[in-house]
Amino acid sequence: MTHAKLTSLMARGTEFFGSQSAILCGAMSWVSERNLVAAISNAGGFGVIACGAMTPELLDAEIVATKALTDKPFGVNLITMHPLLFDLIDVCAKHDVSHVVLAGGLPPKGSIEAIKQKGAKLICFAPALALAKKLVRSGVDALVVEGMEAGGHIGPVATSVLAQEILPEMAEQVPVFVAGGIGRGEAIAAYLEMGAAGVQLGTRFACASESIAHPAFKKAFFRASARDAIASVQIDPRLPVIPVRALKNAGTEAFTAKQREVANLLDSGAVDMMEAQLQIEHYWAGALRKAVIDGDVEGGSLMAGQSVGMVTKEEPVADIIAQLMAQAAEALERRVA
Ligand SMILES: Cc1cc2nc3c(=O)[nH]c(=O)nc-3n(C[C@H](O)[C@H](O)[C@H](O)COP(=O)(O)O)c2cc1C
Repeated sequence: MTHAKLTSLMARGTEFFGSQSAILCGAMSWVSERNLVAAISNAGGFGVIACGAMTPELLDAEIVATKALTDKPFGVNLITMHPLLFDLIDVCAKHDVSHVVLAGGLPPKGSIEAIKQKGAKLICFAPALALAKKLVRSGVDALVVEGMEAGGHIGPVATSVLAQEILPEMAEQVPVFVAGGIGRGEAIAAYLEMGAAGVQLGTRFACASESIAHPAFKKAFFRASARDAIASVQIDPRLPVIPVRALKNAGTEAFTAKQREVANLLDSGAVDMMEAQLQIEHYWAGALRKAVIDGDVEGGSLMAGQSVGMVTKEEPVADIIAQLMAQAAEALERRVA
């Protein structure tokens, strides 16, 4: 089958990334390291290293190691809250990283200029239309629109709604990539037709053969269905926590206790709001590591999106991308001319 329609709808995205297909693998802390990132880029997608809480030295080593595994372009995802954000930006510049993704809130003052100074392209998450416009006005090169079906930290709005709000207004100005709940190519075709330049998937790639995630973590994914991937609940109105979507387990309950502990610290004045939120984020990073690296699928955090039901076995990244592309191409071919 010819992929001509698909290739043409993905052209803006592939040009933006310098990749063969406009399928990004969203950064997943602990999962998106050298092996998965290189495999995605080698298979024609666009891999992104999850910097998470890494130190600048660790990020430096990860970029070098990824470059040793692929000569294709890949990106780095930095969290805006990281206390050494500007040092991490310097590390990306030192290695001429072509694309930087800023996640976890609006870019702090000076960060956009610092990232673009050496020619890197900057991609940010747009949680609402007004913010999408603001980000583009401040010089952001591309947007990711991520709905609440996604795994990991989520916003309150569904992918389908965000796509309808943001694509018609923004897609002509900058490439927009749609994320959250995408498990098959038919959905990719639909978002491309709505104006997206490409898509970002996480859950679908987390258990690829090249992913270093623990076998127990992968097994939990293969067993789960959409309804098992639930969003965490905020228990104290004074402590706003960004919800996280993960497979329900004992760790889900432990997070409730953690919120109570941090809310008490906040009440007693032992920590301020910024520190309280950092503690929550450190908790997630630790809990995710427990599940991904140690295989503790009860106590750790099994961050997963609602598309987890479509993840049924371990497959090489190249096979997953080929399936998604074939499904998308077939869907487009079926359209009445
Ligand atoms: C296990 C896991 C860890 C994640 N960690 C991060 C992260 O560190 N930074 C980030 O920006 N997004 C993170 N995400 C979100 C993904 O990058 C991606 O946007 C999301 O998975 C897309 O939705 P999907 O899961 O429905 O495919 C994570 C997702 C998962 C499943």
